[in-house]
Amino acid sequence: MTKTSARSVLLVIGGGIAAYKTLELIRLLKGRGIGVRAILTRAGEQFVTPLSVAALTGEKVYSDLFSLTDEAEMGHIELSRAADLVVVAPATADLMARMAQGLANDLAATALLATDKPVLIAPAMNVRMWLHPATQRNLARLLADGVRVIGPDEGDMACGEFGPGRMAEPAAIAVAIDEALAPAEGMKLLTGDAPRPLRGRKVLITAGPTREAIDPVRYISNHSSGKQGYALAAAAVALGAEVVLVSGPVSLPIPPGAQMVPVESAAQMMAAVSRELPADIAIFTAAVADWRVAQRADEKIKKGGKAPPTLTLAENPDILKTVATLKSGRPKLVVGFAAETERVVAHAQEKLTRKGADLIIANDVSPEGGVFGGDRNTVHLVSKAGVEDWPNLSKAEVARRLMDRLAGTLAETA
Ligand code: C5P
Repeated sequence: MTKTSARSVLLVIGGGIAAYKTLELIRLLKGRGIGVRAILTRAGEQFVTPLSVAALTGEKVYSDLFSLTDEAEMGHIELSRAADLVVVAPATADLMARMAQGLANDLAATALLATDKPVLIAPAMNVRMWLHPATQRNLARLLADGVRVIGPDEGDMACGEFGPGRMAEPAAIAVAIDEALAPAEGMKLLTGDAPRPLRGRKVLITAGPTREAIDPVRYISNHSSGKQGYALAAAAVALGAEVVLVSGPVSLPIPPGAQMVPVESAAQMMAAVSRELPADIAIFTAAVADWRVAQRADEKIKKGGKAPPTLTLAENPDILKTVATLKSGRPKLVVGFAAETERVVAHAQEKLTRKGADLIIANDVSPEGGVFGGDRNTVHLVSKAGVEDWPNLSKAEVARRLMDRLAGTLAETA
């Protein structure tokens, strides 16, 4: 390999449908000059063949703990230590459980137990399996043991369900591997032993839509999914922050480690934000309804009147502007989002000034972009310093990069 490669990974391929994406990962790593030697678990062999893995890695594929020929060529201990990094992709619930327990019941588990190198896992499983307390317990154990984790992403799953559990995209895993191999540079991973630049800092995040009641059963709202805000909360937790997530109604799991304050209306969101101040960083991702119904009916409005009812609207408080223009107790960094359908950057620049934010993250939410409710985002960072365009990324990746950036800025200003 790899022996001559400057950098190399031992790739453990677990038994999940996402294993097919691992083939693409191998291609990307080889393209970056990273040597790859693979262990394919028995379950992994059900999803990808040893032949395709061998063809792509250009190396023998290992799978059997008690193979005399394999041991003669390279013992399992040496195999676990020859590479600079061990990557598990997909990391199934079963592999994570065995890692957390320290089992050594096949070659993959044995190599993971025997290695003296850093380990990065890319979990992939059904959403219920991911959210199960047992898996979350194993995840916490692995993080505490210093294992690095990338993903999982959220989205439609092969099993037909929706939610967190999809393996991170190969391109994102490749970037994480690159960074793990050169730990001094770039983004820090969600890792038990990573620096926690936001330790001792409070990050306040608004997310989701608000609901403005018309009467006890009807309301005005919008399509915000809350995904970007929830991803930011998870990324802030990973950097060690105390995170308060003030959220309108969404159907997302609470990011582990974040404190959730559920609200419905803009007025409730404003009140909750005020209660939670002071904070070091405030990020306003919520799609706050611009108006509320001026006179909410106490009883359900009946049909059959002479004419349909007329709704008189009243303006909602601008939470971002209120916080950004506070005379005292203003968070050191105030970040807003600008969802636009045209002239995206121009509108964001106008918003930066009008609302008094330090940074506006502009994104195109025109229907063809699929940002609302989708898993990916193309953002532009608009500040007094200028405009920075980011490539199309998963919302999780946008969140990680943005929190990293904010942590850096906060450290400079402190
Ligand atoms: O003016 P617009 O709604 O486009 O501004 C978007 C930004 O302002 C977002 O960061 C949003 O969370 C915030 N906002 C707010 N309160 C409002 C309206 C918007 O915090 N009432």
